[in-house]
Amino acid sequence: MKYQNLKKYFIVPFVFFATGFAQAFDYIQLEKLIKENKLKTISDTIEKLPLSYKSKYVLIFKSRSLHGSSFENPRVLLYGEDASFILSFNGSPEQKGYLGLETMEYDQSTSEFKYREILFPNEKESQSPSSVVRFSDDNPEKCLKCHGQTPRPIWDTHPLWPGVYGENYLTDLSFAERSGLNKFLAIQGSHPRYKHLRNINIFTEKNTFKPDVAARYTNFMKDSPVVELSKYLAKYNIQKIVGQMKRSPEFEKFQFLYLASLSQDCGSFESFLPDGVRPTVVKDLELFSVDTFVKNKKQDLLKKGRALTVNQNLFANQILQNKALDQFRFIVEQSLNISTDFWTMALEADTYDYTQPDSVELALEKELIHQIGKSDEKLKNLVSLRAVGSTVKYCEYLRKNISPNLAQGLKKGSGLSTAQSLQKIYSEEKIRTVAEADPVPGLLNLCASCHQGVVGPALPFLDKDRMSTLLNQGNYPRGTLLQEILYRLSPKAGPNQMPRGLNLSESQIQVLEDYFQNLSEKK
Ligand code: HEC
Ligand code: HEC
Repeated sequence: MKYQNLKKYFIVPFVFFATGFAQAFDYIQLEKLIKENKLKTISDTIEKLPLSYKSKYVLIFKSRSLHGSSFENPRVLLYGEDASFILSFNGSPEQKGYLGLETMEYDQSTSEFKYREILFPNEKESQSPSSVVRFSDDNPEKCLKCHGQTPRPIWDTHPLWPGVYGENYLTDLSFAERSGLNKFLAIQGSHPRYKHLRNINIFTEKNTFKPDVAARYTNFMKDSPVVELSKYLAKYNIQKIVGQMKRSPEFEKFQFLYLASLSQDCGSFESFLPDGVRPTVVKDLELFSVDTFVKNKKQDLLKKGRALTVNQNLFANQILQNKALDQFRFIVEQSLNISTDFWTMALEADTYDYTQPDSVELALEKELIHQIGKSDEKLKNLVSLRAVGSTVKYCEYLRKNISPNLAQGLKKGSGLSTAQSLQKIYSEEKIRTVAEADPVPGLLNLCASCHQGVVGPALPFLDKDRMSTLLNQGNYPRGTLLQEILYRLSPKAGPNQMPRGLNLSESQIQVLEDYFQNLSEKK
């Protein structure tokens, strides 16, 4: 062994003792590690990372980031024990971003994400003693362009992470993923960067992505790396959202209204609204929900389009709309003047898919209660009571603390009529893209946008199977659901014509009539 190599082995443990082994690895320590060891390459840096980083990671074969990626040379995200600090690199000098080590750090104390880039000299320069490693500022504009001005992780949402090995939740690797992975495995052992990765066999083990029954019992449903990372990021993202809200000077004034918007057991949200603004808020909220639906539908289609394969079963019962979340986002935007367009982890900004394995509104509510409870003992006590089934006092407390004066703090409505607003939502390019990309008539999305149970009566317009059954049933003023729909589509229905607030052309009406007629004859 050459002296040079020997030195490495001695220095590593020494550095860790000097900087405190017990402390979790973070950005400051990474910077120290690089400077003290005079590291000049990403491969040497990876080699010296703590074992937890070298053994916990995801592999991205089609990244939409500043790092190029491929099946053979995937982008790697090392996320360590709890993903509060993440490092990322790729594998080929031909790829974009090859010399940049990207990092993300979640700061628990400020509820903020910090993005930074460490630029290494190229192969030739790195031999020269005068070459330097450059450390970016915190959150340079270069990163905020995609991660947002109040940066958030971009990681897509449960149950599909296009471009990552193990794209589909609880689904075995597809043929394409498997053959891609084999290309990577073929070079991994001798690759200057990838060779430092440990625990690589987790990607080939039978139970990693789709654990069988026995594995579920013994491992308590151990998550695949993709899922594990997602859960951590989703958790931090919720904390970030509430942290961002809390920094606003208006937060305290409205805090109980936010809780009311998320609560599942305190009666309708409308009943919490100050009298003066109730009618405007209810109307604007309807339109807000329609807008949300349209954008989420677009995101859903684009996201599925990015994946190699889509396990459709995972989406069978997915609802693209969530009343509590719509209410919550609406009232936050109205009261704090904060845009929620960059709140989710979806790649497509300006969309509102918060899906995670467990309820997002409960997670948000819990975090809000945790934060508000820090200075409100009473609330904390009432929440404990609520947990054992006594909700009345909790709800009363919210109600009591929502003052009628709040009305003044809410933004005034857009002033547009419902029809004008709908025209605006539907005429935007978004809805056209949606309509064209969708296998069912795009117009159905309009119906669905109000009929997922948020604005109009719940009707499963996008679920063909259920619709074809329901169409022949019902006890509507005009008879079966089919008859009611045909009536509602026709000008005969007058002010009750559907889609509410919009005038379809004759040919558009014809398309829908034919569609429903055909669907009803299927059963
Ligand atoms: C062109 C858009 C874009 C820019 C600009 C961008 N990123 Fe990202 N970033 C992404 C995407 C997309 C992902 C999701 C994973 C993937 O596809 O690689 C991501 C994910 C990440 C992650 C993994 C944690 C997370 O947020 O999900 C880190 C770390 C990261 N980026 C760091 C950076 C840094 C540092 C910069 C600035 C130097 C930066 N990014 C700039 C698009 C971008
Ligand atoms: C902007 C929101 C909105 C859109 C878009 C919309 N609806 Fe409605 N729809 C409603 C509301 C609200 C009601 C309940 C009030 C009423 O009966 O008129 C309703 C009622 C109905 C009913 C009667 C259901 C019942 O239980 O009585 C049918 C059928 C219907 N809509 C069909 C459609 C069809 C088909 C489309 C698409 C072409 C559509 N709707 C688009 C808001 C909407």
